[in-house]
Amino acid sequence: TVLVVDFGAQYAQLIARRVREARVYSEIVPSSMPVAEMLAKNPKAIILSGGPSSVYEEGAPQLDRAIFEAGVPVFGMCYGFQLMAKTLGGTVDNTGAREYGRTPLTVSRTGSTLFEGVPAQHSVWMSHGDACSAAPEGFTVTASTDVVPVAAFENDEARLYGVQYHPEVLHSDHGQQILEHFLYRGAGIAPTWTTGSVVEEQIALIREQVGNKRAICGLSGGVDSAVAAALVNKAIGDRLTCVYVDHGLMRKGETEQVEKDFVAATGVQLKVVDASERFLNALKGVTDPEEKRKIIGREFIRVFEQAQAEIVAEAGAHGESVDFLVQGTLYPDVVESGGGTGTANIKSHHNVGGLPEDLQFQLVEPLRKLFKDEVRMVGQELGLPEEIVQRQPFPGPGLGIRIVGEVTKERLDLLRDADAIAREELTAAGLDREIWQCPVVLLADVRSVGVQGDGRTYGHPIVLRPVSSEDAMTADWSRLPYDVLARISTRITNEVRDVNRVVVDVTSKPPGTIEWE
Ligand code: XMP
Repeated sequence: TVLVVDFGAQYAQLIARRVREARVYSEIVPSSMPVAEMLAKNPKAIILSGGPSSVYEEGAPQLDRAIFEAGVPVFGMCYGFQLMAKTLGGTVDNTGAREYGRTPLTVSRTGSTLFEGVPAQHSVWMSHGDACSAAPEGFTVTASTDVVPVAAFENDEARLYGVQYHPEVLHSDHGQQILEHFLYRGAGIAPTWTTGSVVEEQIALIREQVGNKRAICGLSGGVDSAVAAALVNKAIGDRLTCVYVDHGLMRKGETEQVEKDFVAATGVQLKVVDASERFLNALKGVTDPEEKRKIIGREFIRVFEQAQAEIVAEAGAHGESVDFLVQGTLYPDVVESGGGTGTANIKSHHNVGGLPEDLQFQLVEPLRKLFKDEVRMVGQELGLPEEIVQRQPFPGPGLGIRIVGEVTKERLDLLRDADAIAREELTAAGLDREIWQCPVVLLADVRSVGVQGDGRTYGHPIVLRPVSSEDAMTADWSRLPYDVLARISTRITNEVRDVNRVVVDVTSKPPGTIEWE
């Protein structure tokens, strides 16, 4: 394991992901964890992340210098770099010389451990106020910028390395290469970690946890629950029952995809509950987005609990008990809620629309160490269909929050048609991987005048909301090619009844959220 010490902000998660991209397993620990506890994990290397503080600020996170003296290779980035410099006797000043954004870096030792084979001049991403003006004793300065005399240093003998910038962000040229140089050359770690090893390990762990008891899993159609279910199914076979609640707010073909493709690929036992009428009734006359979300969440729990009670009763009739609930919790959920320290503070995360807190089940969470892209790889490894594994995010409340206005069967059908056309054309244009997701929204409460054939029309607009994003926290609108937009627009207005206008949402997030409700 490589430990990534988190000094705040979002850098640690990105670093941990990049380490895994280098095929080395990584875990995040908070900087408040005692160094002895970190070392007790026997890390092969430690990376100190960036963070929002200045090393001179009162209360700024510190580290016991023992971390640099344990013989474990350490790589400090940005704040971690300054902390290493200051702790080991170098000079860090608040010079007032700030650097933010893309900055030219001059490498003075192109043959050094970190900078081997990297061009002497390249751009890196800086974000700092303080600057290191003298490296600690025993360290060699390996790079500088116009503003910072010591932008990188290393001490090969002690296996300590540092850079002032952020090699983990895409804007830093050669960032991944430098990280890999640290891992492979500096720390001597072999790149052997794969999602294949995760599958084997998790299957063994699930078998150990569940024993010969039974488990249930709520399937949402999303990637996470599908991969979690497939893993557990592989481990315990038909002692797992999956429940899929069809709330009628799914897109075209989605329920069938779960019913047919997923079952065909995994052989999982599936109970499909058609609750679309119930949801439509509950949503009758409701136009407020928050109210819609609450109603959908509430109905979901009721239907799921009912299905679950049936499964438990059925098992009971055979003298068996259902003790486990499978959830598709991911590593970011774990880190964000508990700092990655283990069991403390972890929210009862769910990905199937909200499960009650008093569930009498033990949780099985086989994905809780994985990032989203790794979950996709595990899914692929397990032979799940591409359509499920590469599926773009789709909100639990489904099309219910993509109809601005009251949700009715007719409007859902109309939106489903428009959405299917947009998805088809985006796929045909090869844009699926490029965009994060593309909600298609029906403005059911809006009408505008159009002309079709020889007659006047008075129909609804459809909004396309294509966005690019890394994590959905922020997003930018995707610059789709005009010809693709033109094809989608022509087809939707020709093929979908009552729609006479297609518009594109060109708002970033913030200020606009990705979904319209
Ligand atoms: P917003 O609209 O907040 O969406 O920018 C951010 C991301 O979250 C998805 N989303 C949801 N996912 N249940 C979900 O499982 C929800 O209630 C929900 N609301 C939004 C949205 O599609 C986007 O990917």
